[in-house]
Amino acid sequence: PPFPLRQFRGFWMPEGLFPALETIHSRFQTRPSDIFLACFPKSGTTWLKALGFATVNRREHPPSGEDHPLRLHGPHDCVKFFEPSIAAAGGSEDVFAAFPSPRLLSTHIPYSLLPEHITADSSGCRIVYVCRDPKDTLVSSWLFSKKASAAGNVELLKPASYTINEALELFCDGRCVTGPQWRHVVEYWEESQRRPEKVLFLRYEDMLREPARNVKKLADFIGYPFSGEEEAAGVVDAIVELCSFDHLRSLEVNKTGVLEVGFTIGNKSFFRKGVAGDWINYISPEMAAKLDGVVGEALRGSGFRFDAVGDST
Ligand code: A3P
Repeated sequence: PPFPLRQFRGFWMPEGLFPALETIHSRFQTRPSDIFLACFPKSGTTWLKALGFATVNRREHPPSGEDHPLRLHGPHDCVKFFEPSIAAAGGSEDVFAAFPSPRLLSTHIPYSLLPEHITADSSGCRIVYVCRDPKDTLVSSWLFSKKASAAGNVELLKPASYTINEALELFCDGRCVTGPQWRHVVEYWEESQRRPEKVLFLRYEDMLREPARNVKKLADFIGYPFSGEEEAAGVVDAIVELCSFDHLRSLEVNKTGVLEVGFTIGNKSFFRKGVAGDWINYISPEMAAKLDGVVGEALRGSGFRFDAVGDST
């Protein structure tokens, strides 16, 4: 696989993150106000970070403000990645200690690998998950790893000759970062069904279709509901606009800035196309059928469907 991965309790995890995982389990101090923003990689993490940050901080930083932190620093600086930040600090759980509450922590850790002190009802903290169609996720991650290897991260990633066929085979085997993708999704989905007050399950495709509705859901869930006055004043729409793909991509920080997450990558690599269904331009109908077959088989009996719309999950 493009990353050195190790299979651990049913998931292929990046080798470099095991010490961080250990720290998160044994020493990290969860606060009841913590909000975890969870996604499988390339499923809308950056967008969710922007929406979460804009929503939680809207009184101090009105979304239309020219000097909004998202405009100046971008989503990856406003909301740090949880496990790579701890890994980069040599396994220190103190990385987030000075952060003001509520902390927004973005993670790719599968639900079943999160510690009890996050998942237990008594922890108080909440989890928001965004799920994306597997074919779009595969294409997005294949193009992303090619950019990462082109940027010189050759020790971590396959060379630029890495083909979509190779990526598809690995993806279907679950051999990708935090894969299998469908297992990652289904675990969070099942928990959102069991404990809707603990886990909010959103879909990338729904968010594209009805951004304002999804932002309101997110705000209600994390305890920052919009008042009627705010809605009338256009605050929800301003957040949608601030966090839109076109706006975020156009920011200077996202054109030229770089991100360190165990490897170095330009911020611009996180803004490619931002649509649903772009897989059709990269994988053949046969390849799509193969992936659909693998996913369909794996989901059998789960009650979960990737093509369900809105609340009809
Ligand atoms: P594509 O490669 O299909 O364009 P992640 O943030 O989890 O790494 O996911 C990246 C994917 O989300 C990329 O998908 C990227 O273009 C898309 N994306 C980033 N910001 C977005 C936004 N504000 N709205 C919609 N999609 C966004």
